[in-house]
Amino acid sequence: MDRLSRLAVLLLAIYTTITVADQPEQTVFGLPGAEQDSGKWYKFNSPIKRVAVIGAGPAGIQAAATFVEHNFTVRLFDRAPGPGGNWLYSDEIPVREPYPDAPVNEEPWLPERIPATKYYNDRDDDLTLDHRWREHWQPRSIWNSLHTNSPAVITELKQAPYPPDHSWVISAHTIGAHVRAFASIHKLNANDESSVHSYSTRVEKLSKGQDGNGWTLTLKNLKKLEEPARLKATWWTEDFDAVFVATGPYTSPHVPEIDGLQEWTNVHAVDSEEESRFSVYHSRVYRRPERYTGKNVLVVGVGTSGSEIARDIAPLANKVYASHKKYDWDKLHPFQRRSFNRFPVETEFIPEISHFEPLPSLDNGIKDGKIVLVNGTILTNIDEIILATGYKRTNPFHRSALNETFDVEADAPPSDVFTGFALKNVHWTGHFIPDPTLAFTTVRPWTLGEYQYYGQAKVWEGTAHLPNEKELWAQYNSTRYNYFRGLFGTGPSEAIVRQYVTWLNNESLENGGRLVGPWPVQNREVFAYYANQEWEGSYISKDNFTRFENLPANQWTQKDIWDISVFEDEFW
Ligand SMILES: Cc1cc2nc3c(=O)[nH]c(=O)nc-3n(C[C@H](O)[C@H](O)[C@H](O)COP(=O)(O)OP(=O)(O)OC[C@H]3O[C@@H](n4cnc5c(N)ncnc54)[C@H](O)[C@@H]3O)c2cc1C
Ligand SMILES: *[C@@H]1O[C@H](CO)[C@@H](O)[C@H](O)[C@H]1NC(C)=O
Ligand SMILES: *[C@@H]1O[C@H](CO)[C@@H](O)[C@H](O)[C@H]1NC(C)=O
Ligand SMILES: *[C@@H]1O[C@H](CO)[C@@H](O)[C@H](O)[C@H]1NC(C)=O
Ligand SMILES: *[C@@H]1O[C@H](CO)[C@@H](O)[C@H](O)[C@H]1NC(C)=O
Ligand SMILES: *[C@@H]1O[C@H](CO)[C@@H](O)[C@H](O)[C@H]1NC(C)=O
Ligand SMILES: *[C@@H]1O[C@H](CO)[C@@H](O)[C@H](O)[C@H]1NC(C)=O
Repeated sequence: MDRLSRLAVLLLAIYTTITVADQPEQTVFGLPGAEQDSGKWYKFNSPIKRVAVIGAGPAGIQAAATFVEHNFTVRLFDRAPGPGGNWLYSDEIPVREPYPDAPVNEEPWLPERIPATKYYNDRDDDLTLDHRWREHWQPRSIWNSLHTNSPAVITELKQAPYPPDHSWVISAHTIGAHVRAFASIHKLNANDESSVHSYSTRVEKLSKGQDGNGWTLTLKNLKKLEEPARLKATWWTEDFDAVFVATGPYTSPHVPEIDGLQEWTNVHAVDSEEESRFSVYHSRVYRRPERYTGKNVLVVGVGTSGSEIARDIAPLANKVYASHKKYDWDKLHPFQRRSFNRFPVETEFIPEISHFEPLPSLDNGIKDGKIVLVNGTILTNIDEIILATGYKRTNPFHRSALNETFDVEADAPPSDVFTGFALKNVHWTGHFIPDPTLAFTTVRPWTLGEYQYYGQAKVWEGTAHLPNEKELWAQYNSTRYNYFRGLFGTGPSEAIVRQYVTWLNNESLENGGRLVGPWPVQNREVFAYYANQEWEGSYISKDNFTRFENLPANQWTQKDIWDISVFEDEFW
C-alpha cells in the first residue's frame, strides 16, 4: 500500500470511529435478539412458571385470567369472600377506622410457627367473631346508591359487556355483577371449582425466596364454622417465581388530625338503636341515608365521596354542612370542581375546622359540642360527622421484603400533575425496578389493563423483553409522571396506548404471540361526548357557579378535557 492509500485508510478509520461514536445509542426501543443487543435486555435468572396474583378486583381478575391463558401455574388470592374488589357491595361495614391514622406499614400479627391453625370463639380476647371477620376481609367503601363518576364506556371489561340499553352512568351493584360475570367466564368466581383462586385469603407477608430468586407469600385464610359458631384461621406459605400486586388504590381510610377530634370520636350517638354506634365516622362505612333523617350532618371534605354522600342524605337530613380547605378555583383539578358542583343546593359550605372544643359531657352525644372554624365562627348542634377525607395506599405485606426501595405510597407528582395510579420505582409496564419478577397494576384497569397484563405475561414467558436495568431507570425517570396523565377516571391517554400497542406488536412479530389493536376510537369519542355533556355542559357551566365568587374567566374548556385525556409526549 502506498503512503497515500495508507493515509486514506487511516483517515477512513478515524472517520468511521468518529461517526460510530457520534451515533446516538439507540436507547428506548430496538428489536431483541440481534447479537449486539445482548446486554440491552433484562435477563431473568430462572424461568418463570408459578405466578401469584394478589387482589381480585377489576385489575387482579383480568391479570389472573391472562396469566392462566399463558399457561403459568396461577394462584389468585383475595381477602374478600369473592371477586369484585372495590365493587363487591355489602351491608357489612369495615371495622372502625383508627384515630389517628394507623401507620401505613403496620405488619399483621403472625403465629411463631407456620403452617398453623387457630380457632376463635366469640369474645375471645374481647373481640366478637363479627369483628374478626370484618377485620379480615375489610368490607368495601361503596354505598347502596353509588353510581360511577366514570361513564360505562371506560368502566367495562369487554369480555362481559353491559346490556346494550345500559345507562351512561352505572350503579355499583351493576359493576359488581359485571366483574363477577368476568370472573365466571374465566372460572374464577367463588363458586367455581378451581385450584387457581383462594378467597377469604389475605396475603400477610411477601418475602424474597431463600436463594434470592422468587417470592414466598405468607397467607391467612379465615373460615366461618357453625354449631358452635367459630372462626377457623389457617396460616401457610406458598412459593412463586413472580408476583402481581393488585391490592387497589384505596387500601386504607385517611382521617385528619384536628385538635380535639380524638375525644369526639369516642362519643356514642345518643338516639341510635345500636349500642356501638358513634357520631364520627370515615365515609367508607357509609351505606344508606336513613339514619341521617332529621339530623344536622357535618361532611368534612369536598371530594367525590363528600359530594355524593351529601346528595344521598340531603333529602332526609335537616341540615348538611360541608367543610373545605381554602382553595383556588383555578388550580382545582376538574374532578374537584365537579365535586363542588355535585353538592346539593341545600349544602352550606363552611371553612376548614380549627379545632373541636372539649365536650361538656360524654353522655349527650356531640350535640352540645363546639366546633371552631378557622375564621372564628363556632358551629354547634351537629348530630353526625362524616369524614370524607380520602384514602391512602398501604401495603403492609411487602414493606418487609422491599425495605426502603419501595415506598408504598403513590409516587408524589409535581403539584400540577395528576398521576392516578403511578407508583414509585415501577416501570410503565408495571414491573418493579430493579426486580421485575414483581409487578403492579399502574393503569386504569378497565381500559389499559388488558395491554399491561398481557405485556407482563409476555415478559415473564419470554415473548417480550424489558430493557436492561439502566434503561429501565432511564425510562422510569422520563415517564414517571407524564405517562399516567389522563388515566385516572378518564380515558386512556393516546400516548400510552400507542406505546403499548407498538411495543407489544413489535415483540409479538419477533417472538410470537397475538397482536393487539388500539383502544377503540369510538369509545374515545363517546367518552369525550360524555365529558362535555356531564362535566362541562352540566356540571361545569357558568350558571352553576352562583355560589362561588371569583369565577375565573378561563373556564374549563373543551381543550382542557382533551389535555387531560390525551397527552402526547415527546416519544411520539
Ligand atoms: C367510593 C369509591 C368510588 C369509586 N368510584 C369509581 C368510579 O366511579 N369509577 C371508577 O373507575 N373507579 C372508581 N373507584 C376506584 C376503584 O378503585 C376502581 O374502579 C377499581 O376498583 C380499581 O381496581 P383494582 O382491581 O385495582 O382494585 P380494587 O377494586 O380495590 O381491588 C383490590 C382487591 O385487593 C384485595 N386485597 C387488598 N389487600 C389484600 C391482601 N393483603 N391480600 C389479599 N387481597 C387483598 C382487596 O380485597 C380487593 O378485592 C371508586 C373507589 C371508591 C373507594
Ligand atoms: C397454552 O398451552 C396450550 C396447550 O399446550 C397451547 O395451545 C397454547 O398456545 C398455550 N398458550 C400460550 C399463550 O402460550
Ligand atoms: C365564617 O364562616 C361562616 C360559615 O361559612 C360564616 O357564616 C361566617 O360569616 C364567617 N365569618 C367570618 C368572620 O368571615
Ligand atoms: C431488607 O433489609 C434486610 C435487613 O435490613 C436485608 O436482609 C434484606 O436483604 C433487605 N431486602 C431488600 C430487598 O433490600
Ligand atoms: C433517574 O433520576 C434520578 C434522580 O431522580 C437519578 O439519580 C438517576 O441517576 C436517574 N437514572 C437514570 C438512569 O437516568
Ligand atoms: C418497532 O420496530 C421497528 C422496526 O421494525 C422500530 O423502528 C420501532 O422503533 C419499534 N418500536 C417500538 C416501540 O419498539
Ligand atoms: C348547570 O347549569 C346548566 C345550565 O347551564 C343546567 O342545565 C344543569 O342542569 C346545571 N347542573 C347542575 C348540576 O345543577
